[in-house]
Amino acid sequence: MQDQLNAIWEQASAELKQISESAQLEQLRVKVLGKKGALTEILRGMGKLPAEERPRMGQMVNSIREKIEQAISERTAAIKQAEKEKALRSEVIDVTMPAKERQAGSLHPISLVLDDMLEIFSGLGFEMVEGPEIETDRFNFELLNVPKNHPARDAQDTFYIDDNVVLRSQTSPVQARVMTTRKPPIRIVSPGRVYRADEVDATHSPVFHQFEGLCIDENINMGDLKGTLDEFAKRMFGDGISTRFRPSFFPFTEPSAEVDLTCAACHGKGCRMCKGTGWIEVLGAGMVNPHVLEMCSIDPQKYQGFAFGMGIERIAVIKYGIPDMRYLYENDVRFLSQFR
Ligand code: PHE
Repeated sequence: MQDQLNAIWEQASAELKQISESAQLEQLRVKVLGKKGALTEILRGMGKLPAEERPRMGQMVNSIREKIEQAISERTAAIKQAEKEKALRSEVIDVTMPAKERQAGSLHPISLVLDDMLEIFSGLGFEMVEGPEIETDRFNFELLNVPKNHPARDAQDTFYIDDNVVLRSQTSPVQARVMTTRKPPIRIVSPGRVYRADEVDATHSPVFHQFEGLCIDENINMGDLKGTLDEFAKRMFGDGISTRFRPSFFPFTEPSAEVDLTCAACHGKGCRMCKGTGWIEVLGAGMVNPHVLEMCSIDPQKYQGFAFGMGIERIAVIKYGIPDMRYLYENDVRFLSQFR
């Protein structure tokens, strides 16, 4: 019996050495000390022993039990400690590790040129005013001297919401809004989205941005318009860039002009960008038609004004040499990240 006890002890302590998880320890404890355990088995067999041997054997079993319990609890403590250290080690932060690189965003090229334009014109004394993109026929057309059935309406393929409401086809309705609500002197610029039923191609989009300017005061003339736009051209594209006025027609300006800028790519020598002419068409402009002033309750005897409008995309395309306007709308980061 003593040999049996020693064998149990040896087997248990050998198994203990192999164990590395607390769950396995519990299994071992049940196997040796549990109700059906090896040691309990021996205790049961004690009944067969002669009575005088029982106390001595009882003592031996108990001392082995204590030894095994002691060993298990030491091993338990050691494993718990090891597990705790492992958990701590997994939480260690290496503060010397390089930081993850963060991709910084950038302003869209349309925002970049718009910011430039606003800065230039605010430097020239113009204030920014915005208007609604869903506009009434009255502001988008009627007050700009384009009555219903006027042939000029065909020039802009307008999205109609109903007979009297449109998606604005130009930023010029903001002129009309300002003229009907303010007294001269007026100096405003108005950027924003405009809508036209155009097919998408390299130079067209059904949604694009315009930038409108309006100046009304006493003694305003075509020279003021020319000077303002020349100054804008220089500040936007650099010295050596000027403007050229060609006669044109807009119902709300008289006289009207198409305004070209010196080609910024070749500085007027002639290149592919400007189709060899040295000039690039950029703006529509003119003196505010006296009839428009009258409709907006401004006395045309006392006041004159000039107005101009241009596409913001067009400015961006010229400024950055963008070969196709569609790049501006596709949000391809390979394109956008070049403006960081
Ligand atoms: N609104 C005109 C257009 O979209 C441009 C323009 C604005 C012309 C102001 C003259 C004065 O074509």
